[in-house]
Amino acid sequence: MKNIQQLFKIAQTAMQNAYAPYSKFKVGAAILADNQKTYSGCNVENISYPCGTCAEAGAISAMIADGGHKIKKILIVSDGKKMITPCGTCLQRIKEFSNADTEIILTDAEKNFYHYQIADLLPQAFKEF
Ligand code: THU
Repeated sequence: MKNIQQLFKIAQTAMQNAYAPYSKFKVGAAILADNQKTYSGCNVENISYPCGTCAEAGAISAMIADGGHKIKKILIVSDGKKMITPCGTCLQRIKEFSNADTEIILTDAEKNFYHYQIADLLPQAFKEF
């Protein structure tokens, strides 16, 4: 079982590789999946701004492509000072592959870890139609 410090290191490595020349705000995400494997992602911006992708999206894609199904833990880091909170779109992405026990660990520059569940961050999520 990967502990949170290991996930933090994996997310930091991804963050360092982020391509963020426009916002200059680097983000990294690390997932521990239901298959016990870890996946990471970083934001990848584009000169056509809407083409850019978030760190969480990259990590989720890596998990799905490798056969993972659910997020057990996802840890997100940025190179900003304040606690990074996933954007609304990424909360919806995380929701798709989470359950009530999924741990969402947000961090700040002082290496504080803040623990949430998806219901804390995306209450009343769209989930059926
Ligand atoms: N960003 C992420 O990668 N994840 C989030 O949850 C919030 C925002 C990225 C997108 C963009 O490259 C930069 O941060 C500034 O918005």
